[in-house]
Amino acid sequence: MLAKDSKKKIILTGDRPTGRLHLGHYVGSLMRRVELQNSGKFDEINVLIADDQALTDNWSNPQKIRDNMIEVALDYLSVGLDPEKTTICVQSNIPALHALTFYYMNLVTTQRLSRNPTVKNEMTLRGFSSTEGENDNQAGLPAGFFTYPVSQAADITAFKATTVPVGEDQEPMIEQTREIVRKFNSTYNCDVLVEPDILLPSNETQRRLPGTDGKAKMSKSLGNCIYLSDDEKTLKTKVMGMYTDPTHINIADPGHVEGNMVFTYLDAFSREDQFAEYLPDYKNLDEMKEHYAKGGLGDVKCKKFLIKVLEERLSPIREARAKWAGNIPEVYAILRDGTKKAVETTNETLEEVRAAMKVNYFTNDSIIGEWQNWINK
Ligand code: TRP
Repeated sequence: MLAKDSKKKIILTGDRPTGRLHLGHYVGSLMRRVELQNSGKFDEINVLIADDQALTDNWSNPQKIRDNMIEVALDYLSVGLDPEKTTICVQSNIPALHALTFYYMNLVTTQRLSRNPTVKNEMTLRGFSSTEGENDNQAGLPAGFFTYPVSQAADITAFKATTVPVGEDQEPMIEQTREIVRKFNSTYNCDVLVEPDILLPSNETQRRLPGTDGKAKMSKSLGNCIYLSDDEKTLKTKVMGMYTDPTHINIADPGHVEGNMVFTYLDAFSREDQFAEYLPDYKNLDEMKEHYAKGGLGDVKCKKFLIKVLEERLSPIREARAKWAGNIPEVYAILRDGTKKAVETTNETLEEVRAAMKVNYFTNDSIIGEWQNWINK
C-alpha cells in the first residue's frame, strides 16, 4: 500500500478567509488551480479554507472569518473549481490537523520559527513585538500566530501533498514543512510523511499583479483591488480611475507603457482576437503599445478597451457567482461533504503518525501483551 500511495500526485493549497478574492488572487492562484484541476495530471486536489490560520491574527473577530468563509467559497466555485474534482474543505473542522500541529511543535525550535521570513514580515506588519518581551508600542507575540507555520506543515502533510501551488511569499512555509517532514521521519525512523514541492506561478504578472493605483501588489489593505465579485459599474469606475502615465497629458504626447497599469493588465488579460472584436485599429497589443508610445492614443480609449477585456473574463465569473449565491444550502453541502472527506483522509495520516510515535494505544492492542511482558520482567 505504501508503494502505491507514495506514487500518488496530490495537491494541497489554501487561503485564509479574511476577505473576498480579487484579480491578484485570480491570476496568481485561482486560474492556475482550475488548470491543474482540469489537467488530469493529479490524483487528488484539495483546497483548504484556512479559517484557523486566519484566527491567529483575527482571534477577537471570529465573525469576520465566518462571513468571509462563504465569500471565499463562492469565489472558488465561480471561477470553476469543481467539487467533483477538487475537495474544498474547512480547516477548523478537521481534527487531525490540530493533533498533528501539536506533535510537530516538538520538532521545531522557537529560534527556527523566529527566523521564518514570512513570520518576521507579518510580525512587523501586525505590530507584534519579538519574543524578547512586550513594550508600550507593540503587542506581545501570540503563541498561536508565532507557531502557525507548524499548523501549515500539518495541513500539507496531513494530505500527504506532493505539490503545493502557492505564491513566492509562502516559500519559507514549504521549506519549514520539508524540515519537519525530515525531522519526523528520521526521529521516528519511518517514511510516513511526504516532502512536498512548491509550485510557483510561472510569470512575473502572475507572481505579483500590481494594484489599480500602480503602487504595489494588489491588496485589500491598500484599497487598490478589483474583486471577482465587483459588478460591471464598479469595474468601469475602477478602470477609469486606474494609474496610467502621469507624463501623458495630451493625447498627442508620447506615453509610457511600462508601469502603466492599463497596459500591465492588458498584458495579463487581453487576447489577440479581442482586438478584431473591440479595437480593430490595432492588430495586437504590440501595435497598440507602439502607437501609445509614439503619441496620439488617449488613455480613455485604452481604458474602454481594457473594460471590454476584463468584462469578458469577469462576467461569466459574476454570473456563476450569482447562481451559487442563490443556492447557499448547496454551497454549505459542498463544504460539509468536502470537509468530511478531508477528515477521513487526514485521520489515516494521523493514525500512521501515532503508530510511528507509539501512541496508538487504542487502535492496536498489541500493547496489552507488551505491557504484560514489561511488568513480568
Ligand atoms: N498561508 C496561506 C496564505 O496565507 C494559506 C494556507 C494555509 C495554505 N494552509 C495552507 C497554503 C496550506 C498552502 C498550503 O495564503
